[in-house]
Amino acid sequence: MKKAAAIEALKFVKPGMKIGLGTGSTANHFIEALSVKVKEGLNILGVPTSRASKDLAEKLGITLTNLDAQARIDLTVDGTDEFDSELRLIKGGGGALLFEKIVASSSRTMIVIADESKKVKKLGKFPLPVEINRFGTTATAAKIERVFAHLKLDAKLVLRLRDGKPFVTDGGHFIIDCTIGAIPEPQKLDVLLRSIPGVVETGLFIGLCNIVLMGTPKGVKEFKRG
Ligand code: A5P
Repeated sequence: MKKAAAIEALKFVKPGMKIGLGTGSTANHFIEALSVKVKEGLNILGVPTSRASKDLAEKLGITLTNLDAQARIDLTVDGTDEFDSELRLIKGGGGALLFEKIVASSSRTMIVIADESKKVKKLGKFPLPVEINRFGTTATAAKIERVFAHLKLDAKLVLRLRDGKPFVTDGGHFIIDCTIGAIPEPQKLDVLLRSIPGVVETGLFIGLCNIVLMGTPKGVKEFKRG
């Protein structure tokens, strides 16, 4: 289903485009499918959202550029951890949320590719990743907890670990995963969390995704933001 959605996304790719390359297993399907078109002669430039997507795209022969070389790009195709009916997203399960958000917000169009498991009635089934600066982690976590208390949300915070050590993002930060349950006002939560000194970004992507292509057993369904 993920691969079917990835292949469908190729229909939005035009010669000469600069294309943001997302991170994760679904985005990898897109990078692979795009590389086949490149081998057939399609001329595009890729803008990776992580070291992992950069390594994969390079290995598959996609020519890359970045947002130091240009401010705006045409299209980003990325996966997600969740999306709702307003095409609001929770991303960052793979830890690339900051670069993914920078690339998506620099793109004329953001397309999310997903399988049906990613569609939710209310955001919050997936723990919300919050990327924080490594300086003052306990103080920042306490402020995050205060935001949840203020919104009367019962959240459980966990510092993301890898091999027993804090996970470090490509940007050099830590991630706190916040298990919340249904989030009544995602935008308000996002604004409050991002106002905390030390919070670098949240995994809430609001007003960024234009189209979701969702692979289903009956074909790929398209959702557009109104
Ligand atoms: C990476 O940081 C995430 O935002 C991914 O887009 C997300 O975790 C989706 O990954 P999968 O496609 O592997 O489910």
